[in-house]
Amino acid sequence: MRSFPARFLWGAATSSYQIEGGSSQGGRGESIWDRFCRQPDAVLRGENGDVACDHYHRVDEDIALMGSLGLAAYRFSVAWPRIQPTGRGTPNEAGLAFYDRLVDGLLAADIEPWVTLYHWDLPQALEDDGGWPIRDLVGRFSDYADAVSRRLGDRVTRWITLNEPWCSSMLGYRIGHHAPGRKSWPDALAASHHLLLAHGAAVPVLRANCPTADVGITLNFCPAEPASPSPQDAEATRSFDGWFNRWFLDPICGRNYPDDKLADYAEHFDGGPPPWLRAGDLETIAAPTDFLGVNYYNRAILRGPEEGNLPRTLHANPEVTDMGWEVCAPALERLLRRLAVEYDGPLYLTENGAAWSTGPDDDGRVPDVRRIRYFDQHLRACADAIEAGVDLRGYFAWSLMDNFEWAFGYARRFGLVWIDYDTLARTPKDSALWYRDVIARNGLED
Ligand code: FCB
Repeated sequence: MRSFPARFLWGAATSSYQIEGGSSQGGRGESIWDRFCRQPDAVLRGENGDVACDHYHRVDEDIALMGSLGLAAYRFSVAWPRIQPTGRGTPNEAGLAFYDRLVDGLLAADIEPWVTLYHWDLPQALEDDGGWPIRDLVGRFSDYADAVSRRLGDRVTRWITLNEPWCSSMLGYRIGHHAPGRKSWPDALAASHHLLLAHGAAVPVLRANCPTADVGITLNFCPAEPASPSPQDAEATRSFDGWFNRWFLDPICGRNYPDDKLADYAEHFDGGPPPWLRAGDLETIAAPTDFLGVNYYNRAILRGPEEGNLPRTLHANPEVTDMGWEVCAPALERLLRRLAVEYDGPLYLTENGAAWSTGPDDDGRVPDVRRIRYFDQHLRACADAIEAGVDLRGYFAWSLMDNFEWAFGYARRFGLVWIDYDTLARTPKDSALWYRDVIARNGLED
């Protein structure tokens, strides 16, 4: 058997907008995703998170489900618009009470709550004021973090400030594929800085309200590899790695923004220094954290520009998920080894998983063998990294259940548990039963 360390933490993850539904319940305000979903052609088939998995009304059932799988930890996010419907001001009691109940239910079931404060559902009112490109959001986020941690900090000791600021800034403000759907380099870069600053400013707030807290941030990594040894491919790899990985990791680790990317982006600042960077910001962003959350799905193989074409990413392994993402577990092991050198502290894999649409067969079973293989390969990569000395302390499968996959709506299924969107019935897939056994034996079968 391939065993894991004795205290290795086994979990699963979700996020508020993707599963909760109950979008107009309990005084919840509008989020940028509610608004974005109503824009024509923003989301596949025009879907939205109004009902999602209806977790808002099925918390008890979902906790029982987690218990039946033997999960030791559950990573979920708090919806900012439930706590502050307009993004500021007195916290909304009904919103806090919802998470109170969830946390109490988890603790009663012996499942450790891992709270992510921001998994992309910004109150629309704050976007109306300018959104993440505006520095005021840093103070707004600190107030929100204060309200949530005052209420839950007596029971929740694991806090993740932000989920994947690359997605919030680059997909939301540069590429426009995510809410709020803007397409501007200056906005995206300002957003990335204010997100990182909001993280750094919230760390001491969380520590003050919860002195025993472990506080971290979750970044998503896409390891970049050159398609060939050519200088063009090396250059495309440098550029991609800087944009996706180093731009976020380096300042968190106290290394400033990478010089090569500052030089690349100078054209967006009219050649001068970044207009959003103020004295003391980098120190704030580098606030010491207790762990780094790592989300990994795939790598990128970079090919530099040729004959007037833009740089491209390629796939080497023919196996891809329904997202079109190449399956490549060895890149996860390499990533973990790299992070062990670059980040000074323990790592948790806070998301890893695969979208395949395999559904119930005639007997109602969901034989999602490809997902089992995916998890197995990636967990072996984790075990290899641990054996090589990487301080990886836990693994959260993405996702506990099928859910609203952002711009792809319900058409991409990542769940361990199948959701029938007509009845909202939950059916553990074969991968869930397999994961339950992995957890029970704390290891993988040979
Ligand atoms: C990550 C997100 C998560 C989910 C997975 C597939 O980028 O954090 O919400 O959508 O991708």
